[in-house]
Amino acid sequence: MALQLRVYVPPHPLIQHWLAVARDAGTPSVLFRSAMTELGRWLTYEAIRDWMPTVETTVNTPLAPCPGTFINPEAPVAIVPILRAGLALLEGAQSLLPLASIYHIGVVRNEETLEPSVYLNKLPKQFAPETRVLITEPMLATGGTITTVMGELIARGIDPAQVRIVSVVASPTALQKLNVAYPGLVIYAAAIDEGLNDLGYIVPGLGDAGDRTFGTV
Ligand code: URA
Repeated sequence: MALQLRVYVPPHPLIQHWLAVARDAGTPSVLFRSAMTELGRWLTYEAIRDWMPTVETTVNTPLAPCPGTFINPEAPVAIVPILRAGLALLEGAQSLLPLASIYHIGVVRNEETLEPSVYLNKLPKQFAPETRVLITEPMLATGGTITTVMGELIARGIDPAQVRIVSVVASPTALQKLNVAYPGLVIYAAAIDEGLNDLGYIVPGLGDAGDRTFGTV
């Protein structure tokens, strides 16, 4: 059977609540950051449900032995926040994955051509085999940035099947592009919006996630 992109929009009231707070143009930067942290936390919670490697063992309660399931501390997990805006989701994701290695990558897009280019790359030369990668990128707009980052990961040994993307708002344009380039990829988002404006911003979206996070509007 042909692989297909899987996009999950978890119907969780906390995710809907924090999305509405983030979308509201009247939300000040300090509250916007809280909203993004919470979206990072709850979307990561949903994204890792069937993805985290576990080990089965026996634990001794004060009364008797019983089966126990632990997160496998040996299995490598990496979080890749795409700067700048991906940093806004990092704290929430990291709170659930405290043992994950964090590899930053910075991608800027040319405002006229909309072409992305990498300006900071802290990815390792090669990832350890079987490393699971969670990418944090709030806005999947044209799909250019995420496609660039996927290319950098694959060049370092990552199989797209090991990747999960945590996003806040995705556009159909980005999802179509990812479905062609990386079928089998899994995305968790708070919403899929209608489309893009002429500047490549998602409509209705939430504006410029980087500017709103860092108060640079
Ligand atoms: N990046 C943003 O921050 N917002 C958009 O709507 C699109 C790209």
